Amino acid sequence: MTPLRAAIVGTGNIARAHAQALHHLASETGEVALVAAADTDPGRLSTFAAEFGVSAAYPDAAALLAGTEVDLVHICTPPGGHVPVALAALHADSDVVVEKPATLTLAEFDQLIEAEKQVGRFVATVSQHRFGSGAQRLRDLVRSGVVGRPLFALCSTTWFRDQAYFDVEWRGRWDTEGGGPTMGHGIHQIDLLLSVLGEWTAVNGLARKQARVTETEDLSAAHVEFASGAVASVVNSVISPREESYLRFDFEHATIELTHLYGYDDDDWRVTPAPGHESEVKAAWESGPTRIHSGHLAQFREIVRGLRGGSPLPVSTADARPTLQLVAGIYASAFGRRVIGPADLGPESPFYWQMQGDGPVW
Ligand SMILES: NC(=O)c1ccc[n+]([C@@H]2O[C@H](COP(=O)([O-])OP(=O)(O)OC[C@H]3O[C@@H](n4cnc5c(N)ncnc54)[C@H](O)[C@@H]3O)[C@@H](O)[C@H]2O)c1
Repeated sequence: MTPLRAAIVGTGNIARAHAQALHHLASETGEVALVAAADTDPGRLSTFAAEFGVSAAYPDAAALLAGTEVDLVHICTPPGGHVPVALAALHADSDVVVEKPATLTLAEFDQLIEAEKQVGRFVATVSQHRFGSGAQRLRDLVRSGVVGRPLFALCSTTWFRDQAYFDVEWRGRWDTEGGGPTMGHGIHQIDLLLSVLGEWTAVNGLARKQARVTETEDLSAAHVEFASGAVASVVNSVISPREESYLRFDFEHATIELTHLYGYDDDDWRVTPAPGHESEVKAAWESGPTRIHSGHLAQFREIVRGLRGGSPLPVSTADARPTLQLVAGIYASAFGRRVIGPADLGPESPFYWQMQGDGPVW
């Protein structure tokens, strides 16, 4: 089998997780090979190229796409650079894996969807926590009906980033990061929440600058309603000294909780059946997949499977858009001080064009 040829654009922190996962897949299955990398910073590029044995190293994405034939481009630049690189890669007939947040705005996201259609290639957005075995089991339980209707959820990203974290010039700014912890950090948990609870219908949010000197919020909170009738309470913080990522789902027949920080294993899940439902909930939970860590490797395995099968790559743009739309909805609700539904976030809304709309109201 000819390995798929992958390249990485942007060779900073998260690029290492991509390269490690690609190397792992290369040695495990031989289905993919990391063949090229690009970074505008020559020092970072050469360190990365040496560390991961990449011989084709380029000063930017255009040079990479012109110089090496690739099947898959992994975009690991800061968020503001994702769309131009993604469009260039798609038009060079490559599929794309783009880090979160895929785009700075819904308008940009729709540009990606349009380009996918035009060229017949796919964009996958990174959301690695959908792929751990626990999340797969949870979605199976919901689909099978064993846990009954979803009633309530808590979705909490309480992380800590000191002021120095925001010294990196692209962080904490609307024009380069697209938002604060709602967009940049909580999006991981929000995306997992939506992958379980499905279509959201209304959001009532607030955003605050509590402690950090940034353009964006350092805290947001929201109540979200779902088509299923479920409601969720969502918190996104970078000012919380005891850090945690926590999701709690209360169904009719069980509470299912996940407590972790940046990635989870099976032991991080806790299942509490409602009285009278112990045996079927336990049996269904125990019959699902096990031992898949919620990292980039788990997602890339599914992406490679999608590439081989010619199907949209997970997480597809269709699956990822509601997450970005809910983030936009939290900002629109927080700054417009009203309840927002998906229909309020079309091109007539300033929040379609910029996450901060016409400008935040603090
Ligand atoms: N999925 C996750 O868990 C996770 C975790 C951390 C960061 N991220 C995301 O990954 C992305 C990168 O974050 P990071 O922390 O690795 O950033 P970083 O600043 O460490 O690395 C970004 C790299 O991109 C390079 N770069 C910038 N513009 C470029 C361009 N136009 N072309 C080529 N190279 C360019 C920079 O020189 C730098 O080396 C962000 O979108 C971030 O939100 C995801």
